[in-house]
Amino acid sequence: MRHLLTDRVRAVEPSPIRSMFDLAEAAAAEGRDLVRLEVGEPDFDTPEHVVEAAHEAARSGRTHYTPNAGIRPLREAVSEATARESGTEVPPEGVVVTNGAMEATYLVALATVGTDEEYLLPTPTYTNYFQQTDLVAGRAVEVPMPASTGFELDADRVVEAMGPDTAAVMLCSPSNPTGRVHDPDAVRAVVEAAADHDAVVVADEVYGGLVYDREFVGTAALTDHPEHVVTVGSCSKTYAMTGWRVGWLAGPRWLADAVTKVREAVTSCTATPSQYAALAALTGPQEPVREMRDRFEERRDYVVERAAGVDGVRCPRPDGAFYAFLELDLPGDDVAVAERLLREHGVVLAPGSAFGEAGAGWHRLSFANGLDRLEVGFDRLERALSAF
Ligand SMILES: Cc1ncc(COP(=O)(O)O)c(C=O)c1O
Repeated sequence: MRHLLTDRVRAVEPSPIRSMFDLAEAAAAEGRDLVRLEVGEPDFDTPEHVVEAAHEAARSGRTHYTPNAGIRPLREAVSEATARESGTEVPPEGVVVTNGAMEATYLVALATVGTDEEYLLPTPTYTNYFQQTDLVAGRAVEVPMPASTGFELDADRVVEAMGPDTAAVMLCSPSNPTGRVHDPDAVRAVVEAAADHDAVVVADEVYGGLVYDREFVGTAALTDHPEHVVTVGSCSKTYAMTGWRVGWLAGPRWLADAVTKVREAVTSCTATPSQYAALAALTGPQEPVREMRDRFEERRDYVVERAAGVDGVRCPRPDGAFYAFLELDLPGDDVAVAERLLREHGVVLAPGSAFGEAGAGWHRLSFANGLDRLEVGFDRLERALSAF
């Protein structure tokens, strides 16, 4: 009998992070005191001038559909911000404003990965890419990065995995879940090989504004083949704007045009007041961004120091984003360990296997939390490690 749901939709595995979130919500509703370190969004509010801009847009009648690719001033602002923040030069015609970076990565997969074609995902990596590949009927090919180097991008492994069916390669830097910024030489080698295979490199740089010890240089700016790279960005993390749903892709014109075309049938455009909010975020004062980044850096330093002081925890130093990826010396698989940590010790982490097989046995800790909560969280983790 024909199944009512398509194979594609049935193939999508629910995210273990979502399951952990649901467990935590249920426990919190029962009055449990939990330290929630599984959540991947800034704990800050959107800067006031940004909220004001959306307010003003809505009040002045900017409440209609916009062009599919977004309002022209925002596409220009994205083009300028991308050049300023990461050295990636893409004219406004190559920019499409989307409903968060999620829609951008989805539409790029839809436009470039054909049925049964391969999408190479160096892992551990963001869960949604797996689901998006299933949705476009492509094949997600995990390329595990070595735990021994803290999951540094190993270009040889990625290049070796490329073949005639490779349509796209994901390079997420700074990485969710490791916080790693990829080595420029490794990035160059991957893009060069992708160009030889006529594959597209998707550079997810939504955390590019949150890099701590160095300047961030975008993938497209590092290579001699920028025409093979599409850069994905977002207001969500840098400007604490997750709920506004504004992201973008910036890349070659043929891809921007294709995405603009198919987008008409899906979402048409991003909410108009949100686009004006994003415009204010990108073109207005950058002081709130610097403040948030400094706070994240302080927390990153705290997490690294605390982790180093606890027996049974290994934590490669994150260069960016607000995640630390921890190897915990605890028995059981990471989903079972995460559930026990939640139930018995009141601390919630995201299980590493959510990010691909390479992440099995590891856990993602989000430091988008105040130092006081991080302190309680680490105290609980320390107790768990001696009590498990
Ligand atoms: C690596 C990565 N890309 C994209 C996104 C999606 O961001 P947005 O809110 O812009 O859709 C996230 C969100 O967690 C992420 O971690």
